[in-house]
Amino acid sequence: MCGIVGYVGRDNGQRSSALETVAPAFDQESSEAQHGALDVVMEGLRRLEYRGYDSAGVAVITPDGIESRKKAGKLTNLVAELVADPLPRSLTGIGHTRWATHGGPTDQNAHPHLADDGRLALIHNGIIENYAELKAELTGEGLTFISDTDTEVAAGLVGLLYRGLVESGVEGDHLTLALQQACQRLEGAFTLLAIHQDQPGVVAAGRRNSPLVVGLGDGENFLGSDVSGFIDFTRRAVELGQDQIVTITPDDVTITDFFGAPAGGREFHVSWDAAAAEKGGFDSFMEKEIHDQPDAVGQTLLGRSDVDGNLILDELRIDETILRSVDKIVVLACGTSAYAGQVAKYAIEHWCRIPTEVELSHEFRYRDPIVNEKTLVVAISQSGETMDTLMAVRYAREQGAKVVAICNTNGSTIPRESDAVLYTHAGPEIAVASTKAFLAQITAAYLLGLYLAQLRGNKYRDEIADVLADLSTIPAKIQAVLDDADKIKQLGADMANAKSVLFLGRHVGFPVAMEGALKLKELAYIHAEGFAAGELKHGPIALIEEGQPVVVVMPSPSARDSLHAKVVSNVQEIRARGAVTIVIAEAGDTTVEAYSEHVFYVPETPTLLAPLLTTVPLQIFALALASAKGYDVDQPRNLAKSVTVE
Ligand code: F6R
Repeated sequence: MCGIVGYVGRDNGQRSSALETVAPAFDQESSEAQHGALDVVMEGLRRLEYRGYDSAGVAVITPDGIESRKKAGKLTNLVAELVADPLPRSLTGIGHTRWATHGGPTDQNAHPHLADDGRLALIHNGIIENYAELKAELTGEGLTFISDTDTEVAAGLVGLLYRGLVESGVEGDHLTLALQQACQRLEGAFTLLAIHQDQPGVVAAGRRNSPLVVGLGDGENFLGSDVSGFIDFTRRAVELGQDQIVTITPDDVTITDFFGAPAGGREFHVSWDAAAAEKGGFDSFMEKEIHDQPDAVGQTLLGRSDVDGNLILDELRIDETILRSVDKIVVLACGTSAYAGQVAKYAIEHWCRIPTEVELSHEFRYRDPIVNEKTLVVAISQSGETMDTLMAVRYAREQGAKVVAICNTNGSTIPRESDAVLYTHAGPEIAVASTKAFLAQITAAYLLGLYLAQLRGNKYRDEIADVLADLSTIPAKIQAVLDDADKIKQLGADMANAKSVLFLGRHVGFPVAMEGALKLKELAYIHAEGFAAGELKHGPIALIEEGQPVVVVMPSPSARDSLHAKVVSNVQEIRARGAVTIVIAEAGDTTVEAYSEHVFYVPETPTLLAPLLTTVPLQIFALALASAKGYDVDQPRNLAKSVTVE
């Protein structure tokens, strides 16, 4: 939540205007003086806007002091403000795009917040839990506050400490020292970035439980909530540890702990392609990301077996004897990632015969869970920054469990704090609603399940090879679903006035139904719920009335235990009560046509792999319905991509 960017550079005008992509008008009206820090910061904010979009602001150091602009609403409002009231040339700047926690999304509450009589500007991502106590203390010192935010309190504290250092004659980098001292006093989760007009060419930052990465340039350096903040400018990045302070100048990056002791970060190469984070001709990022799915699954499968056909997971550096002794798997995740975990549970239990629980990360540690050295925790997170999941990971490790992260974002916190990581290679996911990451997570979790089955001897090599061969056909099958999407798109558009849509599924189709409902809720803002089809008669069937749309994820007719016949019966039960049924079925399953108003086919595939196909029409349906209502599908209201608060 909240996107943060910082920049310092040496060479005036070295950056051509990236603002053209944000608002061409801005670039035309701006003078040469606006190229530099502002350009880099605005481009970073454009890429980070998915993290929060209810207000945005920038501050730069100019020869006349700190100058700041901030505006409620999306980044385009800030761009308009910058056009109306341009900022002078600068080589040092910070920028913020906000997802409100303390205080509503107003101009006043937008970041940056100023302190030290306007000489210092500060931005923040996270929640400062002891802000009320600090505010009272600082008010007692004579400070006044004009916003409702915890951030302004942090700015006030850093400003006061800065002044104290100057007045007591302390030598050195006052901004870094003041930030170190402030971070020692703050509780909660925070990334803070600060600049001071008396130290042009310096951006100082501190982080605890909130993301921050450094980008390394030549005569310039960058800070970002994630690498998209500077992906256009450098591929060299440094991930930071917990409770660290980093100070960037054009030529140096210095990392310490909160007490000034030298600390280090891990340098890594950013493999994401900047073009992959653009819409590529589609109307929305979400549409593009839905179409990226054949690639996301294909890339996640790539290079996973050796010449003898053994599955290899190089990144899984946990002692094999530990993995052999695992007697329970606990999958921890939130939202869509938790549904990926629920799908994976069916496969992992089937292949490995290890009891597998899936738990929402935010519920996990509050119920005294039974977790020990024989528990393998699988933490699934696209962003790698979800605070609920991070806290659950920490708790599980404290109890002695080993943690494998399944993550899409290199340099993020959850993989760093886990014992091992299996990266999904879905590429950057910008749309707030997750699509391609979901399919890539299921794929990675399946690889993990197969690997454990291989290691523990639950499956013969040829059985594993057969599943891998089936998995390798999935990208082309997803493509076939995408190529045949016109009908479901049209149905989504035709249903723009629906007040409620129910989703039914069974076995692996149950989490798919819940994911379909979640997509509709978050994009189209209508009531949607996913049920296990067998549960209908235990209550939810009372919701069915004349005309109620119900999407049914039909199991394959070849599925075990006559699940198909049972779901067909469920469909008949709801049709008898007036439901309009929309069925996602396997190609060739023409029997369902007699019981459905609308049928959409996906290619034939083994039951456990079916979610990789049946999810896709549901994503397209939600996208089309929300688009027909005129909603912003990339940035749905009230949401943010990376949920870095508990
Ligand atoms: C829904 C969605 C969210 C995320 C959830 C976890 O479309 O995107 O439900 O899945 O916030 O996020 P990550 O995977 O980043 O931990």
